[in-house]
Amino acid sequence: MAAPLYILGAGSMGLLLAARLQPVAAPVLLRRPGRWPARLQLTLQDGEARQRLAIAQLGTDALRDPVERLIVCTKAYDVLLALQGLGSRLAPNAALLLIQNGMGSQQAVVRAFPGCSVYAASSTEGAYRPAPDCVVHAGRGLTRVGRLQGEAQDWVGLLRAGGLDCEAVEAIDWHLAGKLRVNALINPLTVLHDCRNGELLERPAAEAAMRRLGAEADAVLAAAGYTFPEPAFEQAAAVARQTAANISSMLQDARAGRPLELEAITGHLLELAQLHGVPAPEHAALYAELVARAAGRQETAASARARPASQAAGPAPDSRRSRRPTG
Ligand SMILES: NC(=O)c1ccc[n+]([C@@H]2O[C@H](COP(=O)([O-])OP(=O)(O)OC[C@H]3O[C@@H](n4cnc5c(N)ncnc54)[C@H](OP(=O)(O)O)[C@@H]3O)[C@@H](O)[C@H]2O)c1
Repeated sequence: MAAPLYILGAGSMGLLLAARLQPVAAPVLLRRPGRWPARLQLTLQDGEARQRLAIAQLGTDALRDPVERLIVCTKAYDVLLALQGLGSRLAPNAALLLIQNGMGSQQAVVRAFPGCSVYAASSTEGAYRPAPDCVVHAGRGLTRVGRLQGEAQDWVGLLRAGGLDCEAVEAIDWHLAGKLRVNALINPLTVLHDCRNGELLERPAAEAAMRRLGAEADAVLAAAGYTFPEPAFEQAAAVARQTAANISSMLQDARAGRPLELEAITGHLLELAQLHGVPAPEHAALYAELVARAAGRQETAASARARPASQAAGPAPDSRRSRRPTG
């Protein structure tokens, strides 16, 4: 019998997977430490269809049994801390499936948990969470899954059993790099211009920047051994057109004052650029600008905190996140 399935992180992807896998694997949602009701009464919305599901959940501090099978659905910047937070409750040979955008966090897990079976996924599913107990399956996509280390696991069979379109791939890092270069051309620029994806192609300055970012990304990734049949700009422009009305996840995070997944996307590209000696000034400038904006926002929030409550503007920042760019 397969070990119980846990899902770490009850955000958009965590709730989507919990809902889809409930009928086939009855997963347990692992939440931040704290007291949680034993079941989350979750609504899954898919077009006009609405389904109510009772999902088992508990705070990571309430875990008693070893976690042997785990899907990690935190943002890239939280993965390592979240897994380390499980401590000895994470079985040394646990099977892990990582569902993060960008690159770098997956390799960090491989290094930190050498005894675990580690798989990574690159997913074009679209989900958002309008309320803590509701997830909207906004766009059907394809999830590619590949092994990074350790024993073989049938994650593809599990996700397919849950009704998700899924395929096994040999070179998951190539797929992650392919998604990273599209994300690197669209997401930070939508934050810089505070615009929807499609508007990037309507604003000459944004489109020109996207072309320069694309040329740099192609050169950096080629130096790192990743080549693609189509230039990054062409692919990103096609995605921007297909998702013209969408607000990118990074812009949603920026508007909500949440940390951005910038490190795993532009940050990783810049690391590769440095490693291979390929110039990437456009990405570096964009990264620096978004980090500076985040620092400015934190400074504003800090001075607001220093003022009397009656004069304070906006919410105080979450100290747990205070060193991360929030756009
Ligand atoms: N949403 C999509 O459509 C989609 C599609 C493809 C790929 N992805 C990728 O999937 C990943 C997850 O995205 P998402 O949209 O689901 O993000 P999200 O909505 O921000 O969810 C992340 C969740 O992880 C939780 N978390 C963080 N640290 C934790 C810890 N130590 N213990 C327990 N829970 C913890 C967060 O809790 P708090 O709320 O308390 O911070 C949050 O609920 C990202 O890398 C994203 O790029 C998302």
